[in-house]
Order: sequence, then structure tokens, then C-alpha cells
Amino acid sequence: MVFKVEIEAQIMRLRGSPAYQHYLDVRAHVFRMMDGWRDSPEGGPSAYWQEEIDGFSYLFDASPLIIDRFREQCYHITGIKSYEYRSHHSHKVAPFENKYKRLAEVDPVGLFVPEAPEQGGFGFDFGKGLVNVDTLKFYEVLIGLEKSGVLSRFRGEARHSIMEIGSGWGGFAYQFKQKISNATYICVDLPPTMLFSGFYLKCLFPDAAFLFYGEEDFDNKIKNLEAFDFVFLPHYYFPDFKPEKAPTAINMVSFQEMTTGQVEGYVRGLRDLGCQAIYSMNRDRSKHNSELSTVSEVLSKYYPINEIHVIDAQYTDMKSKKGERPPPTIFDYRHFLAGN
Ligand SMILES: C[S@@+](CC[C@H](N)C(=O)[O-])C[C@H]1O[C@@H](n2cnc3c(N)ncnc32)[C@H](O)[C@@H]1O
Repeated sequence: MVFKVEIEAQIMRLRGSPAYQHYLDVRAHVFRMMDGWRDSPEGGPSAYWQEEIDGFSYLFDASPLIIDRFREQCYHITGIKSYEYRSHHSHKVAPFENKYKRLAEVDPVGLFVPEAPEQGGFGFDFGKGLVNVDTLKFYEVLIGLEKSGVLSRFRGEARHSIMEIGSGWGGFAYQFKQKISNATYICVDLPPTMLFSGFYLKCLFPDAAFLFYGEEDFDNKIKNLEAFDFVFLPHYYFPDFKPEKAPTAINMVSFQEMTTGQVEGYVRGLRDLGCQAIYSMNRDRSKHNSELSTVSEVLSKYYPINEIHVIDAQYTDMKSKKGERPPPTIFDYRHFLAGN
């Protein structure tokens, strides 16, 4: 029974780890936000979201062993599984390395951030750290933000805030903060996803200042956004969010899944706040979404929009070669800067 003893000792040790404490803390915030969702005008999750949440409700009672490798659970958000990156799949490394090189060629300043190995981070390692589909997607967006001039706004002395609508498991927030530390990163998403992003970011930035919607004295604390590194707001709070200085906004692979009304609520709301730039990397509409006109149509109703060209390949496409780009369709991922 040596294995049993070893596992039990490991569980005991991990139960006392900072990561497990972060999990318990963030979970308590998420419980509160979930209750707030029921009390909001939406009255809680739709049937569709209830099914999604049910799919990972076991994570509300996760053992310390699962918490130790929590990144593996993020496939619930972006579909990427660690299994695909185990060493027996190393024959698949070359397309990832090629894609990385193609992106690096158009990266003017060195924006690459590999996947963090902590909490079960995974990916292929071809000498640049861990790399998976999400890593390269975030890299592509950082390059687009640089090319569009958005990143340069964050490089001065003054601290700015960036709001990611649909912040998922927090992977882009991690990369962004690695490159731009003097910024307040605001995650807006459906409450249960904050279990992923809140936990992940707390583990990776243990000394950073965090603010969660609904925590003690929240209404006062939110007035001083600049005091925080990461702020977590449930989607239903967005209409009440009235910062003194509007954030820059970003959305990737998320507007495409919403209804026209939801996207319009965000874009109009940001315009009304005085937000100068919304960066979008989305399909104009997801294949399975019949409730959205198109992302670019909604953006252009409120802002002038410009397409930003990063690379002749979809973020999901590891195989195509330079110069091979069929004419774009409504179902292609495209980068747009709305505003200026
Ligand atoms: C496919 S995931 C993408 C996550 C992240 N942007 C990324 O690219 O890794 C879509 C995200 O949009 C979020 N989302 C869906 N409806 C939303 C809404 N009404 N408001 C805010 N976020 C929403 C989902 O919860 C999820 O985190």
C-alpha cells in the first residue's frame, strides 16, 4: 500500500499549499457572484449556460490533486487538452514551431510569452518554453495589439486599464501582465469562469492586488481601479460599471458566440463610457450561432473599424504555409480595431 500512503501524503501537503487556499478563496467569491446572477435582471444562467456550468460543477469540489494541475481543466473554456501535448505526441511539434516562427517574424518588439508551467501548464517545448494553441492565439493577439498602436498606450508612466470581455481561463491576462505590468486588468465574464481565471491569476501573481465583485467594501474599492492589478466583474455588473477613466477593451473568440443584443450592450456601453478602442479577434459569427448579425456590423455601428492583418493563417491552423490564404469568409477569425 505504498502508493496509497504516498498519494495521501501528497494530498495532505497540497491541502496546505497557497494554491489550494487561492482555490478556496476564489470559490467563495464565485459562489457570491453566482447568487448575484440569480438576483440580476437575467435571473441566472440560461438553459444553455446551465448545461455548460453543469459540465464543470465538479470543480466546485476539487481535490488538492486536481487543484495542483488545474490548468488541465481549462479545456472547459477553450477546448485545449494536455493529452494532445504529451511526449508521445511530440511528432506533432513541427507545425507549432513553424507557426511560432511565422508569428515571431511579424512581431516587432518581442512579445512572446510561453505557457507558464505552474498548475499543470502544458505544451510542446521546442526551445521557447511551453507552447499550445492558446499560447499562440494570445501571442497573435498581442502582435495585433502592437500593430494597431494599442499597446503603446500602456507604455507611458500613467497606469491604464484594459477590460477583457470574455476573459475565459485568464491565459491572455497572464501574457498581457507579463509584458505590461503597469496596467489594471479587468476580467468580465460569466461568474463560473472566474473560478478558472481568478484561481489561475492568483497562483501566477501571488503578490498582485486583486479585487473581486461583491467582496467587502467593493463599491468603494472599485472607485480606485488603479490600486489593483486584476479586477473580476461578472457580466451582469457591466451596466453598473462607471469608471472615471474608461478602459481599453478587448474581446477574442467570445463576441462571436453572443447574441446581437449582448454584443451591442457591450459595444454601446463601452462607447458611452468613453472607451477609445475595442480590439476584437473573432469570427464575424460562429457557425452554430444564429442569434448574431455579425461582430463587425455591431462594432461599426458605434465605432470606425479597421482590420489589422497579423498573419495569413487562422489561429487554429498550424499547417498552412506563408502566402496560402484563401479569401476570408464570415467564419474566419479576423482582427479589428474599433476606434482609434
Ligand atoms: C471560447 S471562450 C474564449 C475565452 C478567451 N477569450 C480566450 O480566447 O481564451 C468564450 C468566453 O466568452 C465568455 N462569455 C460568453 N457569454 C458571455 C457574456 N454574455 N459576457 C461575457 N463573457 C461571455 C465565456 O464564458 C468564455 O469565457
